Amino acid sequence: MEFKDVVVKRRSTRRYTGQKVEREKLESAMKLALLAPSSKNTRSTRLMAVTNLDKVHALAKLRDWGSDLLQGAGAAIVVMGDEEASPMWQTNASIMATVLQLALVNEGLASCWVHVGDYLTLKDVPDSQRSEEYVKSVLNISEGYRVWCVIGIGYADYTPKPLPDYEGPERILFDE
Ligand SMILES: Cc1cc2nc3c(=O)[nH]c(=O)nc-3n(C[C@H](O)[C@H](O)[C@H](O)COP(=O)(O)O)c2cc1C
Repeated sequence: MEFKDVVVKRRSTRRYTGQKVEREKLESAMKLALLAPSSKNTRSTRLMAVTNLDKVHALAKLRDWGSDLLQGAGAAIVVMGDEEASPMWQTNASIMATVLQLALVNEGLASCWVHVGDYLTLKDVPDSQRSEEYVKSVLNISEGYRVWCVIGIGYADYTPKPLPDYEGPERILFDE
């Protein structure tokens, strides 16, 4: 696929057909995502593909808003950082998550970022479980790996409306 097509086609997609997501496609996309840059080449980001549908769907409860799309996803990739490896592990993880979403498009798959970071499972309950702890209760994640986001994945059930082409000069500046 042309680079421009990959970039334009990447849209947050929250409904999926239910078609099985092939392990090989996840693996190809993850291998490409590993080529993402990282601060001082610390390579602090770790990826975990989840294909067990019971677990993918359980991840939908990582928050009580904005994560329900995982209930219908065919797979998920958890993006984690080794905080000992780099003080910029969150930035490194975000960059890799973005490259991963583009690589998934290249495999014909749709996806949506579900943020974890410092969120709580219940947004109006300050002493509720942290989303990260919830994810760790569902999956077998090593000590020291911090969970940054979960990418929900599947075959798109609809075509998102295209974004407006160009929003005017306010976001792209030249100083000539
Ligand atoms: C850092 C970040 C966090 C996001 N968190 C969520 C989320 O928790 N749930 C969700 O449904 N979408 C989430 N999104 C997707 C955004 O809502 C989406 O990228 C934005 O609305 C623009 O739409 P587009 O991705 O289709 O261009 C997140 C995106 C980013 C970059």
